[in-house]
Amino acid sequence: MAFSAPLTIEGVEKRTPIQTVKSILPFLWPADHAGMRLRVVVAIGCLMLGRGASVYGPIVLKDLIDGLESLVRNAPVVGHQDAIVGLLILAGIYALMVLLPGMLTELRAAVFTPVSEYAQRVFGLKTFRHLHELGMRFHLDRHTGGLSRAIERGQRALQQTTGLFAFNIAPTLFEIAIVCTYLGVSYHPKYVLVILSAVVAYIGFTLLFTEWRTKFRREMVKQESRANTIGVDSLLNFETVKYFGNEQYEADRYNDALLQYMGAAVTSQNTLGILNGGQLVVRVICQLAILVLAINDYAAGSLTTGEVVMLNTFMLQLFIPLGFLGSSYRMIRQALVDLEYVFQLHDLTPEIEDREGASPLKVGPANVRFDSVSFCYDPERMVVDNVSFDIPAGSTTAVVGASGAGKSTLARLLYRFYDLQSGTISIDGQDVSSVTQKSLRDNVGIVPQDTVLFNDTIRYNIRYGNPDATDEQVEAAARTASIYEFISSLPQGFDTRVGERGLKLSGGEKQRVAIARTILKDPPILVLDEATSALDVKTEREIQAALLEVSRNRTTLVIAHRLSTVVNADEILVMADGKVRERGTHAELVASGGIYADMWRRQKEVADEIEKIQGMLGSDELHTLQIER
Ligand SMILES: Nc1ncnc2c1ncn2[C@@H]1O[C@H](COP(=O)(O)OP(=O)(O)OP(=O)(O)O)[C@@H](O)[C@H]1O
Ligand SMILES: [Mg+2]
Repeated sequence: MAFSAPLTIEGVEKRTPIQTVKSILPFLWPADHAGMRLRVVVAIGCLMLGRGASVYGPIVLKDLIDGLESLVRNAPVVGHQDAIVGLLILAGIYALMVLLPGMLTELRAAVFTPVSEYAQRVFGLKTFRHLHELGMRFHLDRHTGGLSRAIERGQRALQQTTGLFAFNIAPTLFEIAIVCTYLGVSYHPKYVLVILSAVVAYIGFTLLFTEWRTKFRREMVKQESRANTIGVDSLLNFETVKYFGNEQYEADRYNDALLQYMGAAVTSQNTLGILNGGQLVVRVICQLAILVLAINDYAAGSLTTGEVVMLNTFMLQLFIPLGFLGSSYRMIRQALVDLEYVFQLHDLTPEIEDREGASPLKVGPANVRFDSVSFCYDPERMVVDNVSFDIPAGSTTAVVGASGAGKSTLARLLYRFYDLQSGTISIDGQDVSSVTQKSLRDNVGIVPQDTVLFNDTIRYNIRYGNPDATDEQVEAAARTASIYEFISSLPQGFDTRVGERGLKLSGGEKQRVAIARTILKDPPILVLDEATSALDVKTEREIQAALLEVSRNRTTLVIAHRLSTVVNADEILVMADGKVRERGTHAELVASGGIYADMWRRQKEVADEIEKIQGMLGSDELHTLQIER
């Protein structure tokens, strides 16, 4: 039975709640941190002492009452004064026993909070690191929003399970155990029997009933989130609502959802009432049973007044924490479900891992070779089919071809985002799958097709290419990428924030930021995946010159749609359906009259058309602008 829709991950074994709890323990008892372990021990000590004191309280109260009674019965006698002093001391001890559990609870909290925070940090960090290790495929298949919620819930769940179990359930059971031992040893086992039966009945009833009422709670949570979704979605679309004058319709929909929620909330609250009522009945029956036994023993002279009061106080005291049992149980169950999901994430093995004993890539001149490379994302469809080519050190190879031909995939394979089905990719003779990922990626710089920026400043985003770069280096890179002037024209300059995913910048500006940060990374091997596709012709020409400069001494793979950007490449590969169909220099390919020549002719026609129009207007600036658009 599930408390929330349990998220499970395919291919990972499910854990039982016990296994999940076992997986939590190393975080709370960190092997490499003696200080934390000491804190755990001290916290448990505080807890046991506190519980001990709270059991001792009613015992002192008993002595106090019996003392008072004998004082009244024997009065007036000599030694009266001593007896009163004795009673006052007992009163003092009683007060201390009331004070101690509370104080120790605070002390325990102070001692334990760092452990809990430490565990949450280590746990969260482990999840975060692991998520970054998991491959491209994993991330593309998952919603980041869902993942971050899962991490957050997992961390909270860790705190809740420890908090509730260690400081609510376990101490209560411990207290019941000492009370029962005391009563069994000093009094009659029948009291123990009554208490234990009551506790078992109480716990049994609470758990079964909580289990049953979970569906009402779940319904309530579901309706609440549905009402929320409807509300938020409607407000986000306020413009559309206005266009269609549908305010009333939206209000009705929202009201409908609220009514459903209301119904579910009432049922949930009512069943909670029944639970509380049932718990009270069990508790009162138990209390009554204990009192009946006690009165009998009192009448027979085997119990004193103080002892009767003590028994009753024990009963009251034991059931208070048990009252929270239902909600604690529910929260722990939910928390274990949340935690299980995160542990399943931890169990996922990254798709790409460094091989055993992988050595760092040693880049000399940086010759890149694709040798009979075949790759597919899904087994049914080959995306790269037996592709071979060389990019000799320092030269530029361009890949052109229709959309979906597999061009960007080549870049991802060089970066080892995926492993090949067959063939090898090597750099200076070293297979990319046999060197460490870190060293490989340090040496390859990619300006991706779709640039996404961090929601921070432009400076931060450019410096991301090399966190150690000075402001001057950042600015120089911006100059090379032809974006310096634009940035300087902004009121906040390099400190302008770029917005969520960089959406406050235009496509072309984002692309130039991406180029600047790759320039800053300064890798010996460079991949430009449609790096200038979002730029107008003027900017493209400027930046093309810059890129030519940047790629001069680097081994460069250029991926492009617009053929005008690759005419200078040392070799051009024409890809279609994952295969290399033609290869050669621009002049050779145009002369051979194949696919490339055809593409070139069509792009040229469009360009000429534009040129004609521009010519009439006396402007030649947009010469190649609309090619292919
Ligand atoms: N992660 C993925 N999972 C499954 N299929 C994918 C994935 N990424 C790309 N593809 C598919 O692989 C094929 C090649 O994609 P790729 O991105 O290499 O094309 P491209 O040549 O760069 O195209 P474009 O010019 O449009 O950028 C496409 O048909 C695409 O749908
Ligand atoms: Mg692409």
